[in-house]
Amino acid sequence: MISAEVTEAGRVLCLRDETGQQTRFHAIWLRDNAFDEKTRNPGNGQRLITLSDIPADTCITDAGIEGGMLRITFAPEGKTVAYDPGWLLAHAYDREHPRASGWLAPHVETWDAKLQSKVPSGDFGAVSKDGNALRAWLSGLARYGFAKLEGGPVEEGALFKVVDLFGHVRETNYGRHFEVRTEVNPTNLAYTGLGLQAHTDNPYRDPVPTIQVLYCLESSAAGGENMVVDGFAAALRLKAENPEGFNCLARHCARFEYAGSKGVALRARRPMIELAPDGELIAVRFNNRSAAALTDIPYDEMALYYDAYRRLGEIIDDPAMEVTFRLEPGECFVVDNTRVLHARKAYSGTGTRWLQGCYADKDGLYSTLAALEAGMPEAAE
Ligand code: FE2
Repeated sequence: MISAEVTEAGRVLCLRDETGQQTRFHAIWLRDNAFDEKTRNPGNGQRLITLSDIPADTCITDAGIEGGMLRITFAPEGKTVAYDPGWLLAHAYDREHPRASGWLAPHVETWDAKLQSKVPSGDFGAVSKDGNALRAWLSGLARYGFAKLEGGPVEEGALFKVVDLFGHVRETNYGRHFEVRTEVNPTNLAYTGLGLQAHTDNPYRDPVPTIQVLYCLESSAAGGENMVVDGFAAALRLKAENPEGFNCLARHCARFEYAGSKGVALRARRPMIELAPDGELIAVRFNNRSAAALTDIPYDEMALYYDAYRRLGEIIDDPAMEVTFRLEPGECFVVDNTRVLHARKAYSGTGTRWLQGCYADKDGLYSTLAALEAGMPEAAE
């Protein structure tokens, strides 16, 4: 049985659960998170008031449990609101918060080459028809930052059907999608038969495309396997070896640019290792082809920066970090471009290899996944 006690002259409510565990909430937080119909629209749940509508001196004059609900009366409004104690405990903030830089969201699992034997994958037919299969596939994608999808149609534009499963295409100057195959006069090294170092795509964009889909339509050339590396695992390995170097890459912005086609001069200034203000590791940007001159690192830290940058590249190139797979026609992989680096091994000039690629956004992916997990039939805009 949960009990409630008002403390600190009505500024704090202390909930105590069956085990005696106490969880504190501020009066202003509780009032701001009221679910009554004058505070939130009952239909879409959107908040109808601004913080200015809540008096700054809000305090609690009465609180008690009735019929499993917590009823709180606030002054000076004289307003009584009912709360589900389960909701409150699920949203409690009176707890230990991770402090060390580089902490990961709970759903993220880092990996290395040992994941080779269990590459996250799904079947196109199953995920297209079955919400549970789609949820399982998207959940693996969110956990590992990439996933294969097999058994799809071998037809131009099939990659859009993959994006339709969870979101929307992000169109760029490369078009709604781009072709990846050998060209006689390549405008971008991605279109030649050379191998490519593992990288994240388009770090010169702001915002960066957060999802990439690469869909195979032809694959008779030898080689050309796809390879992925967990950028979070690489960054954390650098942190374990050299915390100062990790912090240096996180603290200072790199510069990226692409001006390879007429009328295009894309530039972005962002760190190679990006942390949220509370230290959560949220993104990695690594792309040797579009790295521009580094001009934002203080003179005294430039040597340290280069050492860390070099070491991060060595870790990324370490075969112990990579998972490799070959895409056959009708197969694709989807990658979280803010986390997982991708690469292609060199392939021979005989035979053909044709992939189509496009970008999408991971907010759509997470939204679809959350809606499926909540058992909602369709996510509302
Ligand atoms: Fe790429």
